[in-house]
Amino acid sequence: MVDLRGKDFLKLLDFTPKEIEHLLKVAATLKKQKKNNESHRYLKGKQVALIFEKDSTRTRCAFEAGAVDLGMQATYIGPTGSQLGKKETIADTARVLCRMYDGIEYRGFDQTIVEDLAKYSSVPVWNGLTNEFHPTQMLADALTIKEEFGSLKGKTLCFCGDARNNVGNSLMVMCSKLGMNFVCAAPKELFPNEELVRECEAICKETGASIRLETDIMKATKDVDVLYTDVWVSMGEPMELWEKRISQLKDYQVNKKVLNNAKDNVIFLHCLPSFHNIDTTIGKEIYEKFGLTEMEVTDEVFESSHSRVFEEAENRMHTIKAVMLETLK
Ligand code: CP
Ligand code: NVA
Repeated sequence: MVDLRGKDFLKLLDFTPKEIEHLLKVAATLKKQKKNNESHRYLKGKQVALIFEKDSTRTRCAFEAGAVDLGMQATYIGPTGSQLGKKETIADTARVLCRMYDGIEYRGFDQTIVEDLAKYSSVPVWNGLTNEFHPTQMLADALTIKEEFGSLKGKTLCFCGDARNNVGNSLMVMCSKLGMNFVCAAPKELFPNEELVRECEAICKETGASIRLETDIMKATKDVDVLYTDVWVSMGEPMELWEKRISQLKDYQVNKKVLNNAKDNVIFLHCLPSFHNIDTTIGKEIYEKFGLTEMEVTDEVFESSHSRVFEEAENRMHTIKAVMLETLK
């Protein structure tokens, strides 16, 4: 029996494969209930606080809409307007919020901040993205892959890009836990952190998963089931980094050639937001400075029949609801 009541959700490393699979199952049930218009207000009367020190569309909306679906109310605390960080520490904020709310979500900077928040809070704390990890994203990705292929075990996922960012790190952990083969395509200096690789390799021994780090994108993406990429510069990193990252990662773009190198039924995933055209302020700025019209993925691949990015985005909500339900029920 899996029982996650009262537990924090800070990183996938803290969870057993069985617990992760259980959350995916609950998410699939909640998704069905939502599609069938069946009421599922299992947490009626509870309230959650959502702290966002960085921007968000998917994560914020998944928590807010998900909370309401489950019968709860949510309070959004943005980067400005609260005392957090300026006049009040994370420890004091945690001790205040847990007296008013049943659960707290945090998106921000160092993983140590969300770990601290959890330490001082008597109610569950959920990680909505830190510099190191993005665990709720992983549940949505795993659910999307499962829906496509029926199972996760033995499937190969290749992450192309900055493999030591929050999404790269988390995908490596997710694959290790769920018996998948993780490949990264990146220059050596953007390979995942060695200590984390070693920790994941030990998990692979138990689950039958594997890890491969490649600098050659064609070698890395040959016959893979899932192609995954993310932005080349993450939130919180300085804008000045773009020039360097473009030179490091321009050969790791997911384009038609890379897509054709994977399995015929490969799916393309991206946590989003994505720079696949120049129709955004930053996209335009990069174009004006560096002449690039697309970055980590071409518009052709993003819009192709292989792309499941919007199914993946939808699954953020069903999986986040599963996390709230299982930890608060
Ligand atoms: N994928 C993701 O976390 O999106 P947001 O930044 O919009 O929340
Ligand atoms: N690596 C990205 C993920 C966004 C969902 C970032 O941290 O900005």
